[in-house]
This record gives sequence, structure tokens and C-alpha cells, in this order.
Amino acid sequence: MNSKLIPVAVINPDAPAECLEAKQPEIDNGTAIHDKSGYFSSSFMQREWDRVWTRSWLLAGVVSDLPALGDYFLFRIGHESFIISRTKEGIRAFYNVCPHRGSRLLNQERGNRKVFVCPFHSWSFTQDGALRSITDEETFRPEVVGHRPGLRQARCEIHAGLIFINMDDDAVPLAEELGLPEGYLENYQIDRMKVVRHVCSEWGSNWKVGVEAFYESYHLHAVHPETRGVMGDLNVQYDLYPMGASRMIVPLGEPSPRIPDQQTVNEGLQFMLREAGVDPDTFAGSALDVRRAIQQGKRARSERLGLGYERFTDGQLSDSWATGIFPNVQIGCHPEAIFLMRFLPHDTDPQKFWYDTMTLMFPVDDPNYCPPGWMGLPDNTDVTGTVRAPTETYLIDEDPNLGLVLGQDAAFLPSVQEGMRSKAFQGQLWGEQEQRLRHFHVELERRIAIEPCG
Ligand code: FES
Ligand SMILES: [Fe+2]
Repeated sequence: MNSKLIPVAVINPDAPAECLEAKQPEIDNGTAIHDKSGYFSSSFMQREWDRVWTRSWLLAGVVSDLPALGDYFLFRIGHESFIISRTKEGIRAFYNVCPHRGSRLLNQERGNRKVFVCPFHSWSFTQDGALRSITDEETFRPEVVGHRPGLRQARCEIHAGLIFINMDDDAVPLAEELGLPEGYLENYQIDRMKVVRHVCSEWGSNWKVGVEAFYESYHLHAVHPETRGVMGDLNVQYDLYPMGASRMIVPLGEPSPRIPDQQTVNEGLQFMLREAGVDPDTFAGSALDVRRAIQQGKRARSERLGLGYERFTDGQLSDSWATGIFPNVQIGCHPEAIFLMRFLPHDTDPQKFWYDTMTLMFPVDDPNYCPPGWMGLPDNTDVTGTVRAPTETYLIDEDPNLGLVLGQDAAFLPSVQEGMRSKAFQGQLWGEQEQRLRHFHVELERRIAIEPCG
């Protein structure tokens, strides 16, 4: 490695190695330029389907969406659809396919079913997927239905309140593929959080362009200049974990080192102080004292409301821990709320993807308790979690109202997709602020290279 390379930041150099905030040991993924054809080609899209999507653990949804026996939601990826349902035996994933003639069983996005009745010829199945009845069974020869065809299951495992499925019956257990240290996600108690907004919007680029844009803070100053007053975009700690997982810790509540004014407590910082219960009018410090004041304000709130923030480091109270799970998940982790992003491949077009985001709030009875502004929740959002927000779906030319920052990304990425396709473009040149991108691609290529079974 270049000895003159400026090291990227370490948030807390004193953090002991076992602390989740500690800088992880370096992983050297080399300097190769990776092939760009995977962003445009249908054949690569098919290889991803055969070797990644159908063989990896995929985040299907959250446990808190299935509080009662019989509750279900649908998870769609590519041409597949799954019924994720709470059964007597726990949460299970069924292919949303009737074994009779292949009809989808359910089309309504979420609900509660004691039995699944097929809309085509009314065959029915129990909650655990077993065949319950065949309409006019006496008209079927025993050779055709004697094996009592039920619903096909996919593997399904839970981690930290998140539901993962895997279409590969021989896949290693989720814990072996996740890559994150024990306790990392559990600490946020996501199982107690409630979805307060769920948006699925179609974007004009390959899904990997989406992942990449959210895996670095290098573009913040250019694409999101408004963040410069409140995000330490050059003080970001990047960490790589096994199996393609990674994270970046973005310090919030401090001005970017790129701007000359490091003193003024600007409007954005005042807003963040207020969110943390600190009155900006009486705040005596400078801009560089705000992050600490936010941490102290949240500690005081935790003591007042019994939130148990002892389990978080100071940095976790102020900063965004943007955490990536291979292949297509990034979670913006904050004690108040998490922002769960899934970059879902388009069914047919490699130059589009579905950006599926859920904002989950930790239920706290305090009017000032709110998710960080960058999550872009519309003002009128009900954050109590009493009613599960319906999924809002937007096609590419509709405005998903994702807020300023995410709206800027949505508007910008198609020009990256288009430019990358140019004959003049040879492949991406990643710096160390983009080490998560290289880590992601090394893992993707490793999995793509694995021969499919069968
Ligand atoms: S396709 Fe389901 S009952 Fe016929
Ligand atoms: Fe962005």
C-alpha cells in the first residue's frame, strides 16, 4: 500500500478491540479494476439470479410486522413471491405458488389467514403449508394427488428482529453468512421497533449502483451539499467484516472538515441539538462541541425515560452506523430508529432496481423522540407505530417523497448508470473512502464464480 496514503478516520481510537465501535483490522482487497459489464447485461443479471439471489440469505422483512398467529406479508424478489407467515411453529416462508396449476395464492400485500385458499380452484392449505382440501377431490386420480401436495417452503431464519429467507435448501445457516459480530444488530432491539413508513420506489440504475451510492460518504459534499454543516463526511470510519459485510460510521452533529467555518452553530446543528433535548439558544459551545452535547442530551433523556442507553457507546447516540449485509441490505442504525434499505433487482431490466426502504421507530412516549432528519420522514408521519404503514409503491417517473437527501440520490444515479455504459469508461477507480464498494464486489465475484448445483 502507498506509504503516503492518508489513513481514513478512526472514530474512537481508545475503543477496546471487543467494542463494536473499534476499527476493524484492515482487509486488503487489492487495487484491481472490476469488470463493468455486470451493470448492463441481461446474462450477468441471470448469473446473479442463479448464483446470488437464489442462494444467499435475503432480508424478507421484520418480525414486528407479524405480531399474531396467522399474520403474513409478501416478499417479492425478481419473479418470485414468498408468503412470510407466523405459524404455530414460528415464522415460516412459503413460495406463493399453488401446487395445482401454479396460481399465486395471495396477492394482498399483508394480512392474516387461518387457511390459505387458492383463488383459482379453491384448493386450501393450512397455516403450516400442508394440503387441507382439494375441490372435487373425487374427480382426481389418486396417482395425481396421492402425495398430498402442500406449499413449498424456503429456508427462513430470524436475526435481531429481522427475517431472512434462502431459496437454497443446502445454504449454510444465516449466522455463518451474516458476517457481523454478535450483538451488533441485537443492541438496537429491532424486534421492538415498528415500521412507520415503507416505500418501494423504482430507480433508474442497476441495483449495484444503488448499493455503491449508499456505501460511501465521499459523494456527500457534491451531491448533498446541505449535509456539509452537520455531517463529518471526511471523519468517517470504514470497517470491513467477513462475507461481504461492512459498515461506515458517519459522525453527525459536526461540520464537514471541508468547510472553513468550524465554529458557528448553524441551523442544521441547532436542529440536531433540539432533537436531542438541548436548547440551542442557551448552548454556549461552538460547532465542534455539538456532537458531544447531543450525546449528553440523549444520555439525559435515556435516564429520564428509562431507555437503557448504557448499552450504546457515546458515538452510537450521535452518529449514523450505516451497516451493510451482503448482497443488498444497508441499515442506518440509530437508537431512536433504523432505516432499512433493500436494493432489489428489477424483474427484467438490469438498468433499474427497486429501492425498498422501511423506517422503524423504537416506541417511546416523548414528542421530541424522532428519527434523524436524513431519513426524510414526511412531517405528517404517524411515528407511534400503532398502525402499520402501508407500503407506498412508486414507478420511476413518480416522486416517492423520500426527502431531500434520498431524492438527490434518486435523481442523480441514472446519470452514473448512463455514463458508466460509455465506451470511454473503463471501470471504477475506488479510493479508500470507497473500500466498502471494493469489498462488496470481491464478495459478489466470489459468489458469482461458484458453480450452481444441480
Ligand atoms: S391453481 Fe390453485 S387451486 Fe387451481
Ligand atoms: Fe447519497
